[in-house]
Amino acid sequence: MATISCSLMMFNLLIITSTVAQGVGVNWGTLASHPLPPPKVVKLLKSNNINKVKLFDANSDVLQALFGSNIAVTVAIPNSMLKSFNSSKKAADSWVHDNVTRYMSNGGSATRIEYVAVGDEPFLKSYGEQFHPFLIGAAMNIQAALKRAKLDSKVKVVVPCSFDSFELGTNSTSEVHFRPGLNKTMIELLTFLDKHGSPFFVTIAPFLTPLQTKNISLDFFLFKETVRPHNFSHKTYKNSFDLSYDTVVTALSAAGFPNMDIVVAKIGWPTDGAANASSNLAETFMKGLLNHLHSNLGTPLRSHKPPLETYILSLLDEDQRSIASGNFERHWGVFTFDGQAKYRVDLGQGPKSLVNAQNVEYLSSKWCVVNNNKNLSNATASALDACANADCTALSPGGSCFNISWPSNISYAFNSYYQQHDQRVESCDFSGLGLITTVDPSMEHCRFPIEIRTSHADSHRVCNFPWTMSLLATTLLALVGWHR
Ligand SMILES: *[C@@H]1O[C@H](CO)[C@@H](O)[C@H](O)[C@H]1NC(C)=O
Ligand SMILES: *[C@@H]1O[C@H](CO)[C@@H](O)[C@H](O)[C@H]1NC(C)=O
Ligand SMILES: *[C@@H]1O[C@H](CO)[C@@H](O)[C@H](O)[C@H]1NC(C)=O
Ligand SMILES: *[C@@H]1O[C@H](CO)[C@@H](O)[C@H](O)[C@H]1NC(C)=O
Ligand SMILES: *[C@@H]1O[C@H](CO)[C@@H](O)[C@H](O)[C@H]1NC(C)=O
Ligand SMILES: *[C@@H]1O[C@H](CO)[C@@H](O)[C@H](O)[C@H]1NC(C)=O
Ligand SMILES: *[C@@H]1O[C@H](CO)[C@@H](O)[C@H](O)[C@H]1NC(C)=O
Ligand SMILES: *[C@@H]1O[C@H](CO)[C@@H](O)[C@H](O)[C@H]1NC(C)=O
Ligand SMILES: *[C@@H]1O[C@H](CO)[C@@H](O)[C@H](O)[C@H]1NC(C)=O
Ligand SMILES: *[C@@H]1O[C@H](CO)[C@@H](O)[C@H](O)[C@H]1NC(C)=O
Ligand SMILES: *[C@@H]1O[C@H](CO)[C@@H](O)[C@H](O)[C@H]1NC(C)=O
Repeated sequence: MATISCSLMMFNLLIITSTVAQGVGVNWGTLASHPLPPPKVVKLLKSNNINKVKLFDANSDVLQALFGSNIAVTVAIPNSMLKSFNSSKKAADSWVHDNVTRYMSNGGSATRIEYVAVGDEPFLKSYGEQFHPFLIGAAMNIQAALKRAKLDSKVKVVVPCSFDSFELGTNSTSEVHFRPGLNKTMIELLTFLDKHGSPFFVTIAPFLTPLQTKNISLDFFLFKETVRPHNFSHKTYKNSFDLSYDTVVTALSAAGFPNMDIVVAKIGWPTDGAANASSNLAETFMKGLLNHLHSNLGTPLRSHKPPLETYILSLLDEDQRSIASGNFERHWGVFTFDGQAKYRVDLGQGPKSLVNAQNVEYLSSKWCVVNNNKNLSNATASALDACANADCTALSPGGSCFNISWPSNISYAFNSYYQQHDQRVESCDFSGLGLITTVDPSMEHCRFPIEIRTSHADSHRVCNFPWTMSLLATTLLALVGWHR
């Protein structure tokens, strides 16, 4: 098993990747109870010609799986670590050594780390100002650590910013500024990025907008040609992407950085857990977005200059993402949690369908449902308990399982809990109301999932890193010899 995975990785290294859509990548988050094993995810990326990923941490299993894949990688420092990197150059040095340098030895061809993201949307309004005081110091210390490691020409320091960093002027239709309280930090950040030639990373969140803004038609978000245009800053907009992007351009220009490169760090459309979160709309949105990016038209303010890079949110569904901002948060994936494509879109693989993850190993074909022969007067309370720990987002209004009737919705909750707890018998008890079955209770629109098998032997240490390195060295030497 291990040998096969590693040999395939070696093989990947030797394939010269065909040219694909410039600058489109995916966010790869791992907040899942049963994540698809990293080597399978890397195969999924390769088989769909996806050549850029943005991570939310620097997980060693993930970085090892990306070794030799030729996929460009953004590693990230969580917000919780910003404080220590602001106060300690030493901490920054060891983070860079352990999470960047280690993977990039061998002339930088080992794991292609291109960016270190310092924090993840640290300016998000809901965080208050807790990260503001540490951000610039942390970014500077990481930059200095990269320089000491002689990696600063290959690896750029960036800070992914949330779209709520910006506000429209109260007074005009053309004025944009940073949120009050953010001005000083943002100017410092832009000065820092400018000095080091780093782009501005920003989230563009069209899906969140219609929930808040009335009177904008869904078509405006879906790149429909027939839409009623909106005017902003003396320009006319036919889709929300251009409008959001030029909002960012306007704010950067007003701050004195009119030519700063922009990377769209997160953009996507969820498929479940809310009204208008569906695979159909997500497909329309993604096709519209990718056609627009491929057209190279740019936006009214940056004509023929599309974003430097764009990272789709997200590669896979994650059943442990926070649902503070909505139940759709666990359904951003272009692929389901187990790597099955939800719709058709060209991420780099061309006109053919997306390739699904192969040889996914699942838990047994067993589900936990409610026992209809029992007195179910307390079942709803048990289901709510289950949902507090498991993932019931598909049951929410607009979700794929919203209209299944009682007590099927109780079964859905029981099953989610049971699967998340590795199908342990005691996790299908529910005071005697649970029943384990081998008959799939899924309905046409509502899937009762079985989780992925994630035994330690399967998901961890598939590949021993130093061993891979020496194998790589041997292979390269053999190749050199062979060419002579
Ligand atoms: C950030 O680090 C600098 C340099 O060590 C220190 O002077 C400053 O007080 C730190 N900021 C905070 C808010 O701790
Ligand atoms: C990265 O480096 C730090 C400091 O050496 C270490 O504590 C941490 O576990 C490493 N891994 C990740 C994923 O941050
Ligand atoms: C609002 O607009 C008026 C006229 O365009 C201008 O004189 C005024 O300074 C603006 N106020 C603010 C707060 O931008
Ligand atoms: C933000 O900072 C810039 C530069 O320091 C300044 O010109 C501008 O007036 C500030 N804007 C606000 C709203 O404070
Ligand atoms: C979903 O889209 C419809 C239009 O198709 C709109 O009327 C409705 O308000 C949207 N719902 C949400 C929650 O955005
Ligand atoms: C909403 O849009 C319609 C056109 O579709 C327009 O007539 C109406 O004035 C708008 N309402 C508001 C409050 O902007
Ligand atoms: C938007 O601008 C165009 C051209 O500048 C103008 O013809 C149109 O009437 C404007 N639309 C609105 C709703 O202001
Ligand atoms: C179910 O249990 C409740 C008490 O929890 C009781 O009131 C009800 O009569 C029982 N129903 C049946 C059909 O036994
Ligand atoms: C329902 O729960 C209550 C309180 O825990 C308990 O007294 C009652 O016996 C339960 N009913 C059934 C049918 O289990
Ligand atoms: C549930 O909703 C889907 C899609 O809206 C619909 O096709 C299906 O028939 C509904 N099922 C039931 C049982 O109402
Ligand atoms: C299941 O459906 C019933 C009836 O519609 C509802 O009262 C209950 O809250 C639902 N339970 C869950 C877990 O969605």
